[in-house]
Amino acid sequence: MSIIKELNEEIKKLVKKAGYEVENLVLQPSGRRDLGEFQLNDAMSLAKEYHKAPRIIAEDILKVLEDDGRFTNLNIAGPGFINITLKDEYLGKLLTEIYNDKERNIDKRETRKVILDYGGANVAKALHVGHLRSANIGEALKRLATLLGYNVIGDAHLGDYGRPLGLVVLEIKKRYPNLEYFSDNYQGDFSEIELPITNDDLVEIYPYASKKSKENEEYLEEARDITFKIQSHERGYYDLWKKVVEISKKDIKKVYEDLNVNFELWLGESDAAEYLDELDEIYNKSNVLTKSEGAEVIEVKEETDTSPMPPLLYKRSNGTVSYETTDLATILQRRKLFNPDEIWYCVDARQGLHFEQVFRAARKVKLVDDNVVLEHIGFGTMNGTDGTPFKTREGGIMSLKGLIDLVENATRSRINPDTVEEDKREEVAKEVAIAALKYADLLPYRGTDYVFDPEKFTDLEGKTGPYLLYSTIRMKSLLNKAKDLTIGKITQFKTETERDIGLTILRLPIILNKALDSKSLNDITEYIYKLTSLYNKFYAENKILTEENKELQTSWLTLTKIVYDINMLLLNTLAIKVPEKM
Ligand code: ARG
Repeated sequence: MSIIKELNEEIKKLVKKAGYEVENLVLQPSGRRDLGEFQLNDAMSLAKEYHKAPRIIAEDILKVLEDDGRFTNLNIAGPGFINITLKDEYLGKLLTEIYNDKERNIDKRETRKVILDYGGANVAKALHVGHLRSANIGEALKRLATLLGYNVIGDAHLGDYGRPLGLVVLEIKKRYPNLEYFSDNYQGDFSEIELPITNDDLVEIYPYASKKSKENEEYLEEARDITFKIQSHERGYYDLWKKVVEISKKDIKKVYEDLNVNFELWLGESDAAEYLDELDEIYNKSNVLTKSEGAEVIEVKEETDTSPMPPLLYKRSNGTVSYETTDLATILQRRKLFNPDEIWYCVDARQGLHFEQVFRAARKVKLVDDNVVLEHIGFGTMNGTDGTPFKTREGGIMSLKGLIDLVENATRSRINPDTVEEDKREEVAKEVAIAALKYADLLPYRGTDYVFDPEKFTDLEGKTGPYLLYSTIRMKSLLNKAKDLTIGKITQFKTETERDIGLTILRLPIILNKALDSKSLNDITEYIYKLTSLYNKFYAENKILTEENKELQTSWLTLTKIVYDINMLLLNTLAIKVPEKM
């Protein structure tokens, strides 16, 4: 159990000693620091229960708290708010416990098995900023939930199936009609054939083919035909498709690696397609499929709906399956392979209707048990300073690589040439740029759209990734310089700032659980900024290394180490890497 939770329990016991029972006692941080550090507001509700004036109850409780000896500056404000301050000695003891055992500053939960669907890159298409948000938020949520005791399996759920791939293979056929893949006579092993195509080619080919298919009905028909050939594993086409996936995947992996995003599973839509027959069996046996203009659909509307809820397109009239049905197959696959307690989808909020349809259709035939949680963790858009989705300077769709380059350019000048050797500078600039990007992306509540300003978010001051990296590296450097000094015990506080740091440290477990409850990282990004700026204030006000009061110096160094450890823990949870120097 965490210290803060234990503190609540201790107070609860003391309140009981005063003659009152509070079921859920939670100390609130005080808004009026002159009155106290914590506030206990339970006298008001106890008044009703015990038919006494709140002030009388508060006085009874105050008396017991006074006798206890661990608290100071005890007083009652207003009708019965009890203000409590921890004695230096007591706060120091609590913090020392955290220094000795990090587990004392975390509240684990009962474990749950979760499949987290995030990333969602599409093969043969460039990753864009929407994919960035899914990767950032998804990876951080995965790490947070794991930290709190869940067993989370992240799946990239690649978009490697369907028409776009048919279009790409068709266009390759148009450009290289003599490739062995298209020859009926070729008897050899396709995997030995070099494809004269790079990932950059693929990224160019898809938009070209997509545009052409919209202008040319015949071309579209051919693409459909090829999509069908791939999906029915026809020799040659199927092999070429696999090759395309392989080329593209290599590139996708590199981008995710740069972002410090690691998936446990690299399954794709095509892997779920293996479950389509079984899915058909389940749905055909049920009575939820209805015919509509040659297609098969599932009605998912409910009486209580206040917005339109169209039926889910289960199968098109030509027999091909939709994105929705692929997701249903994926649910079946996940149940069979992993039997999870929860499945989370970290996907753009604009796909909200899609997931609602899918979840309802899944529930209708009990693809998973009723108690299995299916949740869409939607997120808003990253906008440019003009308030519309972030674009290139020319106004086109911003690729993720383009965005990273842009932020890197804004970061380069912020690297200190005196501390970072020349041959490391590019690498560090990239790491800092990615930190800037990630922190900015995780700063607002996930559901809100936000404006990304490269100059602002790479600044070394303010709520930015670079500020946090810079400050954390400085803490480490201080601790290195203090290697020969005594560390490990907090007994003294010189100023209010140090106490504030200490109290903020105690709140960590509450913040972590709040973030997991809301499945958003904003509480953590705000918290780390608050802790860091408090620390920096303290750092600026004191000369730690030359302090002559050795006991005070030890307290300061110990406090520094706790803050440093928390920063490292949280940055790692946000999947932000900390360079050695910057
Ligand atoms: N590939 C999709 C896209 O780019 C995202 C996939 C999200 N996951 C899912 N199970 N549908 O929009």
